[in-house]
Amino acid sequence: MKKSFRLLFISLVSFLFIQTSFLQKNNQKQLNNTDIERRIDSVLSLMTSEEKAGQLNQLSYGFGWGPDVILQIPTEYTDLIRSGKIGSFLNATGAKLTRELQRIAVEESRLKIPLLFGFDVIHGVKTIFPVPLAEASSWDPDLVQMSASLQAKEAASLGIHWTFAPMVDIARDPRWGRIVEGSGEDPFLGSEMAAARVKGFQGDLSSNKNIIACAKHFAAYGGAEGGRDYNTVDISERTLREIYLPPFKAAVDAGAQTIMCSFNEISGVPSSSNKFLLTDILRNEWKFNGFVVSDWNSIGELVNHGVAANLKEAAMLAINAGVDMDMESRSYVTYLSDLVKEGKVSEDRLNEAVKRILRIKFKLGLFDTPYKYCNEDAETMTVMSQEIQDAALLSAQKSIVLLKNQNGILPLKKDLKSIAIIGPLANSKKHPLGSWEQMGDSNDVITLLDGIKKAAPQAIISHVKGCTIKGKSKNDFPLAVEAAKNSDIVILALGEEGHMSGEARSRSSIELPGVQNELAVELFKIGKPIIVVLMNGRPLAINWIAENIPAIIESWFLGIKSGQAIADVIFGDVNPGGKLPVTFPRATGHIPIYYNHKNTGRPSNPLDYFTSKYLDLHLTPLFPFGYGLSYTNFSYDEIQLNKTKIKMDDTLKVSVNVKNTGNYDGEEVVQLYIQDVTASITRPVKELKGFKKIFLKKGESRDVEFIITKNELSFYDASMKWIAEPGSFKVFAGSNSADAQFKTFELD
Ligand code: NOJ
Repeated sequence: MKKSFRLLFISLVSFLFIQTSFLQKNNQKQLNNTDIERRIDSVLSLMTSEEKAGQLNQLSYGFGWGPDVILQIPTEYTDLIRSGKIGSFLNATGAKLTRELQRIAVEESRLKIPLLFGFDVIHGVKTIFPVPLAEASSWDPDLVQMSASLQAKEAASLGIHWTFAPMVDIARDPRWGRIVEGSGEDPFLGSEMAAARVKGFQGDLSSNKNIIACAKHFAAYGGAEGGRDYNTVDISERTLREIYLPPFKAAVDAGAQTIMCSFNEISGVPSSSNKFLLTDILRNEWKFNGFVVSDWNSIGELVNHGVAANLKEAAMLAINAGVDMDMESRSYVTYLSDLVKEGKVSEDRLNEAVKRILRIKFKLGLFDTPYKYCNEDAETMTVMSQEIQDAALLSAQKSIVLLKNQNGILPLKKDLKSIAIIGPLANSKKHPLGSWEQMGDSNDVITLLDGIKKAAPQAIISHVKGCTIKGKSKNDFPLAVEAAKNSDIVILALGEEGHMSGEARSRSSIELPGVQNELAVELFKIGKPIIVVLMNGRPLAINWIAENIPAIIESWFLGIKSGQAIADVIFGDVNPGGKLPVTFPRATGHIPIYYNHKNTGRPSNPLDYFTSKYLDLHLTPLFPFGYGLSYTNFSYDEIQLNKTKIKMDDTLKVSVNVKNTGNYDGEEVVQLYIQDVTASITRPVKELKGFKKIFLKKGESRDVEFIITKNELSFYDASMKWIAEPGSFKVFAGSNSADAQFKTFELD
């Protein structure tokens, strides 16, 4: 067949195929897996290797949304779409823009394969929710799932199919700015949050209100040396499997459709070329059947890592290791078809990657209904809808952690005559939006000042900043002192800028920046009651404040409803029930400090000099993992075990009676930890294995039950086998990792 004839023939066949596909108008729900596989194979059979490589290419578009978005699509992009050299955009948003991009793909490209639109929906798109670290403080997977589902709904109405979330990286080092994007230090809590977010985002993918999730950054990105972003990670396989991988496994088990590999290396192998991680563990052990996307140019960075001589070699390493889609490095679209011709990448591997991406496009129904997410009316009705804003408020209320409340100074009475609201974050509209504010508008933010004014309308409110967040000037201190003197009470909002945490925002110190601590000291001297409200993206070493200020509220960055939620807590309309998902160190030099540490051969003992300690710092944390107060009190009865000896396939019932002994109704997170006392491998002093968030009216009590099976007692042995060993275990139940009573039992 002559070349021109052959081309004509292929075009005709593909045209007919695509037409039949569209004419089928299959309802997504009716498409079963066999149908999908059959249709994937048909599409694949029509693709040239350039088009296949194109499917694996993802580029960033740029920002802009809403009916007024200017549709000047750069010709570079229209050319790429028409020639089938791009499979996905990130950062293309808005029903109008995504519809037009999609139209070009499904009407003007040869094979009419729809595009996939990805976006970082980390804590909302336009309606900004609390940062993930804050939401993790709720210890409430149902809330987190609901929150993710509404974030998905808003995102979907903006044409987005896919979020690069949840970020499930465990972080034991608060210097690392990205700690704010995850769920803290613990693999169990992290796994619960990961699964909840995946379920919330993905919900029902056949609807147009859910989006696919992407668990990231695979893996151990949070283990960066010195807490410096993108830095080397050097950890054992045990730490990898026990600490960093569980939330990814939970995300995969919850059905996450995609995984993003991380920028870092682990013990010499960058994640983007890590076959052990991406193929052996993810595909072979976990049976993950979605696709893996690289992080932004992380394939290109294999050259900087020093494992690839050039971009072509980087592409070869990445695809052969298991990275299916290339975000931004353009290495796949440029080199993959040559690499296949040269026999350096197998046709099968290329096909497999393409099939994984097409499969998701089919699952989303994009082949049959390519514009299902591109409806401008739906966008107008959904973005910032009351339903989504209400969810953002609820999430903000539940994310707050009460760290100190000496003599029950909180909640405040609403008939206070005068309040001084001081501090660089007191009236900030910007910072509560956190680090991934996306299309969030600071004008939508309710500041703390706004919130207090609304909650106590009769009070005389004076507001002084006192200082900036990072600046050195104390010029405004006298004004702040004056305002404090003339008021009944001081609310002092301190912390970090919203952009002092997040990507590439590591700090070498976790102290309060600037002169904020000094401002607190000055105000304290006046002798008025002070409530410190913290806004920050990481645990802070606030020793002086913790020691001297009677009330401390940790609000992290709560999004647009920040001030309202904090005011609700301050005046008792909401009784705080959050618990810390991460340990608060006493100093930067305390890092790493986490509750599930090992005992060592010489555990700290003040009576014995030659034991593990610092000469100049108390070893205990400032606030432990799992800690958080309520306006009410909870008492715990003795733990009850239904047996003191169990066999390997038995279950152990642990129950504890918890009573609300205070004066308010309230929520408590009952936490269950275990310790394998003697094992063939050293085990942590405590490991969280369960928690239950309960609501008790004042005076009410309840038995809270947990079931322990062999799985909760297992760990990786010397040959990395998941086993439980006979012997003694301690089981702890309590209100935080440092305040939990225990009982012992034997595993036979
Ligand atoms: C780089 C970040 O590491 C990742 O988390 C994010 O999803 C991508 N950029 C895309 O914005």
